[in-house]
Amino acid sequence: MSRKRKEEPLSRRGVPELVRDKARPPLAIVLGSPAEVVHCLGALGDVEATCYQMDLHQAERLQAELAEQQAPAKVVTAADLWDLPADFQTVLYLPPRGGERELKIDMIEQAFHVLRPHGTLVVWSPYDTDPFFPSLLKKIFGRLHAPHQDGEAVLWCQREGDRPRRRHQVAFQARIGGGPSCRFVSRPGVFSYGRFDNGARALAETMTVRPGDRVLDVGCGCGTNGVFAAQHAGADGHITFVDSNVRAVALADLNARANGVAAFATVASSRIEGLAEGSFDVVLANPPYYANSSIARLFIERSAALLKPDGRFYLVTKQVNEIANLMMETFAHVEAMMHRGYTILCNTETAS
Ligand SMILES: C[S@@+](CC[C@H](N)C(=O)[O-])C[C@H]1O[C@@H](n2cnc3c(N)ncnc32)[C@H](O)[C@@H]1O
Repeated sequence: MSRKRKEEPLSRRGVPELVRDKARPPLAIVLGSPAEVVHCLGALGDVEATCYQMDLHQAERLQAELAEQQAPAKVVTAADLWDLPADFQTVLYLPPRGGERELKIDMIEQAFHVLRPHGTLVVWSPYDTDPFFPSLLKKIFGRLHAPHQDGEAVLWCQREGDRPRRRHQVAFQARIGGGPSCRFVSRPGVFSYGRFDNGARALAETMTVRPGDRVLDVGCGCGTNGVFAAQHAGADGHITFVDSNVRAVALADLNARANGVAAFATVASSRIEGLAEGSFDVVLANPPYYANSSIARLFIERSAALLKPDGRFYLVTKQVNEIANLMMETFAHVEAMMHRGYTILCNTETAS
């Protein structure tokens, strides 16, 4: 395969005959970009399909593309693929180029559990020679078929018998200052897997949260920032965790409970909706760096609307210039604090 071809996204390659051959309904398509999923469904005809996504933003984009193509497939989001009924004849997994290795392992493990007996898992990999998937599939499914066709890496295997569910997760301990140590469970696909992020630490060490505060942890990941805020907000405070990734929301719930957060709520939303405007004393944000600051902009604009008039917004970043400009479009006065190599931007007054 030429180098150029190798780097082409799956959505620009012809769907291999083997994928078309093996895809028997009911079919589940696991992850994949909206363009890749729509491309595959187009090649598979009107097959009955369920498209699994973990993030509401991706799911909504996919839903919109499917509606445009008038494709009958349905989109489901769940914290775990194995939350779907174990009733698929075929699961087609479209792993991304790059991306988190642990999430790939987790998806293959969970795919086993949603297949019918003798059902088929098909992996159409963007890597043609990488031994990662062959050895992983062999380990989980026992037997692997890896015929190379048209220079494409399509691997398939069948579910035979049963195996116990093996949960992929890593717990880590963290503490802020002299506060109590907290234990957080993290799972693949949720920031940050297996460790307390340094930016999150910088944020938690800088924020001012007072007893009784109502705090919003926006883009909460596994919930570290809200849990540390709860140590200051106390029994009269309240923490709301919101994220577009439904696995993140499930983890924030689990970690808030396990660390004794007195009063909290979790919300899954890609637009930071479903929350009372003007109701929070503090909003905490550690926005992702992808998507050209569009998510940082969303976090800033929605936080301004959700804060009480004298509420405090803390955002941690390394992209200071870009994000400070966005902050100043929304807040009249913005203060910058440097800590641990990060900048924490905070409003000092909301713009009228
Ligand atoms: C850099 S991580 C921060 C996670 C956690 N707050 C921390 O500090 O470790 C950014 C989080 O924003 C979430 N996110 C991205 N886009 C979002 C959107 N449109 N709506 C809500 N959350 C979003 C991601 O799923 C991710 O959990």
